[in-house]
Amino acid sequence: MNLAHNIRWYAVLAKDLLFKPTYRPHDFWNRRHRRGHNFWTVGRRSFDESGNREWYARLAKDLATEFHADGLDLRRLSVCEIGAGIGYWTRMMRDHGCKRYLGTEIADPAATWLRPQFPDYDFVVADVAEDPLPGTWDVIVMMHVDEHIHGERFLNALRHIKAAMTPTSRFFTTYRTVPTPSGVSYVEYHTQKDFAAVFPLAWIKPVPRPHGGDAMLSISAAHARSDNYNPRAYPVGRCGD
Ligand SMILES: C[S@@+](CC[C@H](N)C(=O)[O-])C[C@H]1O[C@@H](n2cnc3c(N)ncnc32)[C@H](O)[C@@H]1O
Repeated sequence: MNLAHNIRWYAVLAKDLLFKPTYRPHDFWNRRHRRGHNFWTVGRRSFDESGNREWYARLAKDLATEFHADGLDLRRLSVCEIGAGIGYWTRMMRDHGCKRYLGTEIADPAATWLRPQFPDYDFVVADVAEDPLPGTWDVIVMMHVDEHIHGERFLNALRHIKAAMTPTSRFFTTYRTVPTPSGVSYVEYHTQKDFAAVFPLAWIKPVPRPHGGDAMLSISAAHARSDNYNPRAYPVGRCGD
């Protein structure tokens, strides 16, 4: 047990639960990214750095398994990531040979920090809830970002993502399998039903989790055309577990 970490975590949690500060996304994320670039910035704060590394690795293995199962060869595909954070998924895309990558970030200090680390990739400062994505992309990745985009802003973000997809694009996103209340103002969880407000249900497929990573959806018009797709196998709001 990492005692110093736990003391820090419970202190900030108590403050967030008690005072419930208004969530202003630009200010909130700029402040976090100005303070550092580690898992405390973007990961699950109840986990320490090594706990996060292990947690992220499970999701990464599930995603890689799905890329393989879906025949997605990143060496030939363009990738747009929303909320690139500290570059964990950027690094994964690079490791998979992706040559065309755009990372978007609401926080300027995040993009400024990421650029020199990935000089072959592009990063823009943009709020996906306000700014359309430039062009169309083969793969769009959004990990642990949806819960930080709330209400109508969340729907706008999904509309921007949908507009950046072609009939064969894949959109990978984390989500909640069941409605989950949040005690803190900066988190509002979304289930498959919330994604289905913008994407046809037949496009939405829960990703298998052989490595026990967080629940993830693969959203694509191509899934609706797949012969073996059975939407009843994925009832709204209770999938992926
Ligand atoms: C919980 S962190 C996850 C970061 C990264 N995806 C990961 O899994 O490590 C959320 C990230 O999304 C960014 N973000 C939050 N709201 C955003 C928005 N509306 N548009 C673009 N980026 C956003 C934040 O700055 C932050 O880096």
